[in-house]
Amino acid sequence: MLDGKKVLFSGMQATGNLTIGNYLGALKNWVKLSDEYMCFYGVVDMHSITVRQDPAELRKRARSLMMLYIAAGLNPEEACIYYQSHVSAHAELAWILNCFTYMGELNRMTQFKDKSAKHADNINAGLFTYPVLMAADILLYQADVVPVGIDQSQHLELTRDIAIRFNNIYGDVFTIPDIYLGKAGAKIMSLQDPTKKMSKSDENPNASIYLMDDEDTVMRKCKRAVTDSEGIIMYRDEQPGLKNLIDIYCACKDVTPDEVVKEFDGQGYGVLKEAVGNAVNDLLRPLHDNYKKLEQDKAYVDQLIKNNAEKASYYANKTLRKVQKKVGFPERPR
Ligand code: TYM
Repeated sequence: MLDGKKVLFSGMQATGNLTIGNYLGALKNWVKLSDEYMCFYGVVDMHSITVRQDPAELRKRARSLMMLYIAAGLNPEEACIYYQSHVSAHAELAWILNCFTYMGELNRMTQFKDKSAKHADNINAGLFTYPVLMAADILLYQADVVPVGIDQSQHLELTRDIAIRFNNIYGDVFTIPDIYLGKAGAKIMSLQDPTKKMSKSDENPNASIYLMDDEDTVMRKCKRAVTDSEGIIMYRDEQPGLKNLIDIYCACKDVTPDEVVKEFDGQGYGVLKEAVGNAVNDLLRPLHDNYKKLEQDKAYVDQLIKNNAEKASYYANKTLRKVQKKVGFPERPR
C-alpha cells in the first residue's frame, strides 16, 4: 500500500518494435487496472543493455515506448510512467538483492537459457542477474500486483522468493507481489510458427504484428497466418495456429473462445482471419492517432519525464533507505 492505495508495477523493455503480444498480454491490462491502483510503469532501459544496443537507437526507442504507454490510454498524470535509468535506486536495490539470490535459482531461468543460446558471443553477468533487477523494480514500489504475460511468470516467482527470504531475515520489509494474467492474450503466439511466442526479436516480420503496423500490413499478416488443413473452426491444442487467431480475437473483443467458435461456426478460415485483422485494426487505430498527437508535443512529454522521475525516485528511495538500514549500512548524515 502507498498513500492508502494498492500498488501496481510493470514494465517493458525498450528493445525492438512492440508487438500485439506486448499489447494484449500486458499494456491492455495496465490500462484496465489503472484506476484501481497506484501505478508505476517503467520503461526498463537498464534491462535492455543486457543485449548490445546502438545508443542513439535505444534512446529513440525508449522515448517511443514512453509515448506508446500514453497513447495506449495510460494517464501519465495519474500513473507514474518513467525511465528506469532515471531512478538510481533500481541499481542500488538490485545489488543488495543479488546478495540474497542463489546462483542455482538464476541458472534455472528459462529466459536466461534462451537468451544465452541466442547471444552466445555475449553471455554477460547482466543477462544472468537480469531477474534480480526485475525483482528490484517491483519490490522498490511495494507492488501488490504485477500484470505481465505468461513468459514473465518464472521471474515473478523468483521475485516472490527473494522477497520472502529477505522478510524472513529482517521482518516485513517488502510486500509480496501477485502476478496478474489477463483472461485472454497472456501468451500470443507467432503467426508463422504457432508453437513459438510472438516476439519483438523474431527475424521474420510476418510472424508478428507490430503496434505501429498500418492497417493493410495488419490485414496481410493475418491473412497469411499459418493454420492447418482441417478446415473446421474449433478451439483446441491440435490446431495451434487457429487457436492463436481465436485468442487474439478474444483479447481484442473481450469475448470467450466458445463465443468465437459459435460466431464462426461453418465458415472458412479466411472469414475468421479477416475478422481478426479488423479486430486488431479497430484496437490499434486510436493508439496510432494518439501517438501522432504526442509526437507533436515534445515539451509536454519532456515535462512528464522530469516530473515522473522525481515521483518514482521519492517512493523508490523510501524503500531503499529502509532496506539499507536493515542490512546494516551506516546512516547518512543529515
Ligand atoms: P518484455 O519487454 O519482453 O515484454 C513486455 C510485456 O509483454 C508481455 N509479452 C507478451 N504477452 C503475451 N504474448 C506475448 N507473445 C508476449 N510477449 C511479451 C511480457 O510478458 C511483458 O509483460 N522482463 C520484462 C520487463 C520487466 C518487467 C519488470 C516486467 C522488467 N522489469 C518488472 C514486470 C515487472 C520483459 O522483458 O518484458
